[in-house]
Amino acid sequence: MADENVRIDPWSSTQSTDYARIRDQFGLSELPLHRIPEPSMLHRRGIIFAHREFDTILNAIARGEPFGVLTGLMPSGKMHLGHTLVIEQIRWLQSMGADVTITVADLESLATRGTSLDEGRRVALDEYVANYPALGLDPDRTSVYFQSRRPIVQRLGFVLGEKTNRSTMESIYGFDGSTNLAHVQAPLVQAGDILHPQLEEHGGLRPIVVPVGIDQDPHIRFTRDLAASSNWFNINRRKKGGLTIALSIQHGNHTCFGVEANGRVNMQVRRQFFDRLVGRLNHDGWSDMIPNPKHGTVEIPAATEQTGQHLRHSLLKFERELGGLGLLPPASTYHRFAVGLTGDKMSSSNPETTIFLDDEDKAVIKKIRAAFSGGRETVEEHRRYGGDTDKDIAFQYLATFFEPDDKILADIGKSYREGTMLSGELKQHCIDSALEWLRDFRERRDSTEGVAQMMLADDAQ
Ligand code: TRP
Repeated sequence: MADENVRIDPWSSTQSTDYARIRDQFGLSELPLHRIPEPSMLHRRGIIFAHREFDTILNAIARGEPFGVLTGLMPSGKMHLGHTLVIEQIRWLQSMGADVTITVADLESLATRGTSLDEGRRVALDEYVANYPALGLDPDRTSVYFQSRRPIVQRLGFVLGEKTNRSTMESIYGFDGSTNLAHVQAPLVQAGDILHPQLEEHGGLRPIVVPVGIDQDPHIRFTRDLAASSNWFNINRRKKGGLTIALSIQHGNHTCFGVEANGRVNMQVRRQFFDRLVGRLNHDGWSDMIPNPKHGTVEIPAATEQTGQHLRHSLLKFERELGGLGLLPPASTYHRFAVGLTGDKMSSSNPETTIFLDDEDKAVIKKIRAAFSGGRETVEEHRRYGGDTDKDIAFQYLATFFEPDDKILADIGKSYREGTMLSGELKQHCIDSALEWLRDFRERRDSTEGVAQMMLADDAQ
């Protein structure tokens, strides 16, 4: 039934936490943990719980090929623990060889929260970017830009806007007649953000992964669809086995694909183009091919899903030589929503729900002491029945942020569930680990003072 479906809306304040269901409903894949080299605790503990086409990134890592990561932040409020989840993933991807681009979504913030561009800039630099070196990002390989100052992301958004329409945006984002037009443009700019690192002047064709919270999946789907509909060559499964390449006729390729102004196909031009296409595929090592210039298809019976990746790459390069954009759909990974200390959603507008990176120890201790507990009503009951680590926020925070050692975490979990560890003891452990984490962070912040400036792209200075 429709209303049983989880609706994911990037701007809503409600959230679902049934992750297996979210994965199924949105056609996401489960993270292939066995393929991930040196998995971080976020991988190991299922906090990153789903992906789209992350395999392309794992392949690039395995082969030592270039790949990039792009993600973005909304410059509003202060940086809190929840925001560190994405940064930790970027750190890991960077350690695996990724180049890193981070967008400050100042246009989106203007459109959806009324934050002025000046205010957005100040907040982004002081509250977020300043912390990145201390959180482990390498300033030499991290590039931060502002949406408002990078015309190419706006231009790309505009150009790709031709590939979608109002109904699509209404059904994905729930927009209606009263939605302000800046808000309508925000997803197009975000698509521009996500796709522009593939352009020649920003690093060229290579897989890009976008680590985000699950609330951002509508943007990922939207962007993947836009990229696919801009492609000049579609690759489809062939009914009798193998793959079929099909021309996608669109503005910009009529002349080269031999389509005349009246829509008729000029077979001479079309055949010449097919000779070029087939010659190129030959050069790539494909031999057994069935070209059909009239239908605009080339069947390759021997191609598989695996070898299809090379095929896709090669056709995108060809498209670029012919004047097209040649865009790969982005890969993505999704992390769980960080639960608020109170058991509600974590949000900077409700300071009791989270720990800010500049909170003083006193405040941290107070917040964790007051955190939602998975313990029993009385000590006696707790000793007998044990606590619930799935509900206990102190335990969740150890698992998500503060306790890197799997063995220690497992031992704590076990004693808590068995009732030998009481809620107060678990909270004390969480407090100790949180304070140590913050002390460490502050030290690194002091020693990396001013370093974040190096992360600003030229157009962000
Ligand atoms: N919409 C994102 C948010 O609400 C911010 C953002 C803008 C973003 N552009 C992006 C995230 C590109 C990932 C990739 O936080």
